[in-house]
Amino acid sequence: MASYIAAIDQGTTSTRCIIFDHSGQVVAVDQVEHRQILPKAGWVEHDPMEVWTNTRQVCAGALAKADLVLSEIAAVGITNQRETTVVWDRHTGEPVYNAIVWQDTRTDAIVNELAQGEGGQSRYQSRTGLPLATYFAGPKIRWILDNVDGARDRAERGELMFGTMDTWVLWNSTGGTEGGLHVTDPTNASRTMLMDLRTLSWDPDICAEFGIPMSMLPEIRSSSEVYGHFRKRGVLGGLPISGILGDQQAATFGQACLTPGEAKNTYGTGNFLLLNTGTEPVLSENGLITTVGYKIDEQPTVYCLEGSIAVTGSLVQWMRDNLGMIGSAPEIEQVAASVEDNGGAYFVPAFSGLFAPYWRSDARGVIAGLTRFVNRGHLARAVLESTAFQTREVAEAMNADSGVELKSLKVDGGMVNNELLMQFQADILNVPVIRPKVNETTALGAAYAAGLAVGFWSGEKDIRANWAKDKEWDPKMSEQVRQQQYGEWQKAVTKTFGWVE
Ligand code: G3P
Repeated sequence: MASYIAAIDQGTTSTRCIIFDHSGQVVAVDQVEHRQILPKAGWVEHDPMEVWTNTRQVCAGALAKADLVLSEIAAVGITNQRETTVVWDRHTGEPVYNAIVWQDTRTDAIVNELAQGEGGQSRYQSRTGLPLATYFAGPKIRWILDNVDGARDRAERGELMFGTMDTWVLWNSTGGTEGGLHVTDPTNASRTMLMDLRTLSWDPDICAEFGIPMSMLPEIRSSSEVYGHFRKRGVLGGLPISGILGDQQAATFGQACLTPGEAKNTYGTGNFLLLNTGTEPVLSENGLITTVGYKIDEQPTVYCLEGSIAVTGSLVQWMRDNLGMIGSAPEIEQVAASVEDNGGAYFVPAFSGLFAPYWRSDARGVIAGLTRFVNRGHLARAVLESTAFQTREVAEAMNADSGVELKSLKVDGGMVNNELLMQFQADILNVPVIRPKVNETTALGAAYAAGLAVGFWSGEKDIRANWAKDKEWDPKMSEQVRQQQYGEWQKAVTKTFGWVE
């Protein structure tokens, strides 16, 4: 009897495979980072072949670390960085270009051109839940077709396939050029700007306006069903693949945010706050996006409102790699703790423009409020605090859109081990911040989706039963300090606007 589920988490900076037991505990993890290819300012690419090689490596690695044989694994789920776009040749399996990453802003001109139509930036919002922005996959596909020699002709002849990373991993895992499955789930498809949120099918009019042949697009199936099996000869040979969720939706599922009004915030490369709004999509009037939360087999689709923040954890990495101000990412906490407060400095990391709630591709990063007093400790604080301030902005938008005041915030991701940040987050939001015992909620959510499809878990009650609180931070800051600091932050944000024409 198989006692474990494996999840592949193809993320922005690394690919991991995690094996879970029935209680949702982590049994083994293997992880490999991939290169961040930065050809010019604003461009971010990944090598899809490197990612696929790493995927195979971590699957084999996790299995070896757990000391398991294949028959002990019931099923495999896939979760992934969303929006990152791969286009490849269906006959050779060769990508026609590197993957264009969600953070990449090269599609600015395409997005601006599309926004000239009636409705402007919100032109497709009622159908797709999204504002026109460089973030989403549709404009990235269009860029590849417009800029890679011969790509448009090949696409029109039906030779090319598009996929987000879930589809790239699934297609390769299930046989690639020898019958690989060209499939995605609605959580990933809802990040392309090409899917109708209500019907969960590709919108032919939007595809035509974007100039994207529909033959390139994968089939949209549910987030939890047996899609197929790993190819016999390869890694995890023969195991069923039965769950796909975009990483933020997977974390929402893994955090057991299964009823309307429940929300989680993941602190990764960026931050993503998702609120379950139930089985009807709620369109935002405050700069959030509407996205599919999950669709379990034949059950009704569950939707979320999402506040997507492009740069949070990656700002800490930038401080380490580009400025050399810290030796390692965790060191930032110690440097930040060397001072009482931010010394008046505010860091707005608009490296990819600003996402929610502003959607300003003309914004670029600023450090505001500098005086000679400001030192390395203050800047380290400003870096951490920017994550908390940006989270407050999207939380306020969430309150305004849903009419429900956030009472507490479930958190997960790499930065939630940073005590200083978590306390500041509770202070600046003025609500308790709660971390679960299993912090690997993204992979766990994909494991749940896969496990539900094969009867390994029986339903939502198992998911709720596995969730347990690890730690809670309660607000301690005075209202006066909170308002003053947030006001200064908002002033700093306005300094980023209009930097790029
Ligand atoms: O939308 C982008 C998001 O899915 C990326 O997540 O955790 O890989 O930074 P992460």
